[in-house]
Parts: sequence; structure tokens; C-alpha cells
Amino acid sequence: MNEIGKVAGTAAEKPVVIPVEAYVSEAYARAESDKLWAKVWQVACRVEEIPKVGDYVTYDILDESIIVVRSAPDKITAYYNVCQHRGRRLTEGCGQAKQFRCKFHGWAWGLDGKSTHVLDPQDWGKSLTPENLRLKEVKVGTWGGWVWINMDPNCQPLQDYLEPAVSMLDPFEFEKMRYGWRQWLYVACNWKVALEAFNESYHVDGTHPQFTKWGSTMWWSKAENNCGYHGRGAARGEPGSVQGGTAATGELMAAAGQDPRLAAADYQNEIVRTLNAATTDTFVKAANRLADELPPGTPFDQVNAHFMASAERDDAARGVIWPKIDLAHMTAVGHDWHIFPNTIILFGQTFALCYRARPNGYDPNSCIFEVYHMERFPEGQEPKTEWVYSPEPTEQKWLKILTQDFTNMPQMQKGMKSRGFAGPRPGPVQEVAVIHFHRLLAKYMGTGAPQPIA
Ligand code: FES
Ligand SMILES: [Fe+2]
Repeated sequence: MNEIGKVAGTAAEKPVVIPVEAYVSEAYARAESDKLWAKVWQVACRVEEIPKVGDYVTYDILDESIIVVRSAPDKITAYYNVCQHRGRRLTEGCGQAKQFRCKFHGWAWGLDGKSTHVLDPQDWGKSLTPENLRLKEVKVGTWGGWVWINMDPNCQPLQDYLEPAVSMLDPFEFEKMRYGWRQWLYVACNWKVALEAFNESYHVDGTHPQFTKWGSTMWWSKAENNCGYHGRGAARGEPGSVQGGTAATGELMAAAGQDPRLAAADYQNEIVRTLNAATTDTFVKAANRLADELPPGTPFDQVNAHFMASAERDDAARGVIWPKIDLAHMTAVGHDWHIFPNTIILFGQTFALCYRARPNGYDPNSCIFEVYHMERFPEGQEPKTEWVYSPEPTEQKWLKILTQDFTNMPQMQKGMKSRGFAGPRPGPVQEVAVIHFHRLLAKYMGTGAPQPIA
């Protein structure tokens, strides 16, 4: 363990190299269908997308398609999206249904999956039974306001699979957050390349250099069960205290001799302008008042306490009650979690920025990448949102920060195929979540385990 590892409370990994096969091989991409996607819990949608009985979302993953439907006021059910007559898909996209009627010959099913109509059933004699006509179910569960599905009938329970996310992140009450915006695009890279742009922050200085003006930090990165997560460590080159969430930037700036009142405001304005996520209007406004409300020379910890308290008070006044999470827990959980295989959540007290990457067919060089911002809104004031397809990875469509991230992805995919590249070497301290992801992946796939660097 090196010095920073000690400071950040992270047990450093042994340095490893990851075989490139997982990123570039078409055979590997095909094998993922049965070995990975058919076995794991994965996010199908948010509960908020199906509030009323009959609301459904069609979740597609490779060749498989699954209907997630609110089948009763307090029940969500998932079915394979296939007509039991001759195999036509029953739904596309999202919608509202009283029943699922196949457009080919009109066979139909209730929301409970029971057959409600077969034309001329006597033609089959006695061979069609209520049981063999039923829509075929997929395991489904909810946590954090997400609907998760698993195609493996023998899968482990969702809550066990998600640990330690459930016990450590439950206090953030993601189930009370709602979409603020959601966008997606195709990216010319493997789904893992896209995902791995977001389960470490080691890239911030290189990819988002505008942030170095607020100081530069090391990151701790940890992994456990199906989760990898990271947060802020000490300032680069300085063994120092560890701080969580929004507070950290101000602390770094104060350490660099900057006015933490102005630092916080500057940072919040930059984040909202260049990401429009990972903060809320409440935080931005509270930060912009700091210079009026506090005298020059107020030390960082007082600035931060004032900032947080006034943001919490402003939110309470509009009916958004913050979850009670102490600083020690904020620090311990970090700010960014990767839940295997393809969910990333970057969050604070009242917001989350989330990512989902999926393969685009069996081309290892292409993926579907979705990004969404969620936050706590006063009840009844949640915006109406839809998925927006934004194909161009430009600042105009995706703002500065995500555009910077997108720029790396096709270049990574190309570089990975070079004769001059032996495979990725994720950092053994700050990119533990990346290494852990590949260990898990290799277990499912039976190949491609990270190897010690010789
Ligand atoms: S394929 Fe669906 S009713 Fe015939
Ligand atoms: Fe980034």
C-alpha cells in the first residue's frame, strides 16, 4: 500500500493488465449474450416510467426484449416480449395497455400474463393450456426507484446482488428522485469503454483540465461484491484529510489559498453550465449567495457548513426534505458507484447523474449509451421527460464535460487494437473499480481475467 492508499483508506491492488479481447473480439461480444446478459440483474427502467396499471416499458438487450409492466397497483411484472403463437414481438417502446394483443393473428394476454384470446383454439385440440399459453416471466425487482430484471430463473435475490449498494446508498433515497433530463446516443466503442469513462475520476485532470483550477486531487477507489466505488482522497502530493461530495472542492481551494466562498460559487456555476447535472438549482443559488452572506476570510469549514445548511433550508422551504446523512457516511460512500455490469450512479444528497451502456448488437465496436440526470423535486413539480436521441457528441447537444468524455471513447476503441498495446493497465489505487469490473466479468465469461503485470 502506498502513502496515498493509506491516506485514502484504500488497499492498493497489485498492478494488472486486462486482456483486450473483452473490448474488441466479436466472438467475446457474442458470448456475452448468454454468459453475461442472460445472468445478471440489470436496470430496465425507472419505476416513475410506469406509474399506472397498464403502463409498460420495452427493454431491449441484444436479441432479447422484455416487457416491464405495472400489472397491478402495487406490482410490476416482466415478460419476454414474444407472442406464444408464432413469435411476433408484442410491444415496442413504452406505452399503456389494457392487454397485450399480437398484431399478427390477434392472440392476447392480460397484464397478469394469462392468455385472454386465441382465435379458433379448437384447431389445436387440447394441446393449448392456460399454463403453456402464459407469457413467459422474467425475474424483476426494484431498488432505489429502478426496475431491475434478470433472465436467470435461478439468480440470486436482487438485494443480495446489489450489496453493498443497498446498505450504503439507501440513505440517499434515490427512489424519491425523478428524471430531470435523459439523452442517449450510439458511440463507436465497446460498451465497456464507454462505461469505464465514468467509474473512475483519475481522468479528470487529463480529460477535463478546466477543473484543475480548483486544485487537483487523488481518488480512492474500492470494490466489493458487485460494486466498485470511488471518492475524493487527498490533494495531490499532500497527505491530508478526506472529504466527501460537494465540500471537497472548496477544501482543495482553501488549501490552495483561494477564497472558499468564491470557489464554491465558481465551481457550482461551472458544473451547471457545462454538465447541467451533479448539482441542483438550489445548490447553485446557495453558492452564489455565499459572498454576500459571509465575510471575507471565513474559513473553509464554516463556508461549507453555511452553504450546506442554507441549501438544505431552501430545499425544505419548497418541500424537498434532505435525507439525514452524516459527513462520515458521505465520505465513506464516495460519490460514484458502478453496479455490475452496466449501471453507474454519480450522486449527492438530492441529485444523481446516471449512465447505462449496452452493446449495439454483436459489433464490439459500437454501443448504446444513455445518460440521465435525476433530482428531488417538490411533489407535483417533476418535469415531464422523455428519452432524447442526441446522436452528435457535440457541446451544443451534450455540453462540455460529456463531450470531453465522448472524445476519448472511439480513440480508445481504435488504440486497443494496436499491435503496440498489451492491454489496459488500470491504476491499482485510483482505478480499483475498473480492475474489479474485469474480475467479475471474467468470472461470468470464463475468460479474460486481469493478469499481474510481469
Ligand atoms: S404470431 Fe402472434 S398471434 Fe400469431
Ligand atoms: Fe469525465
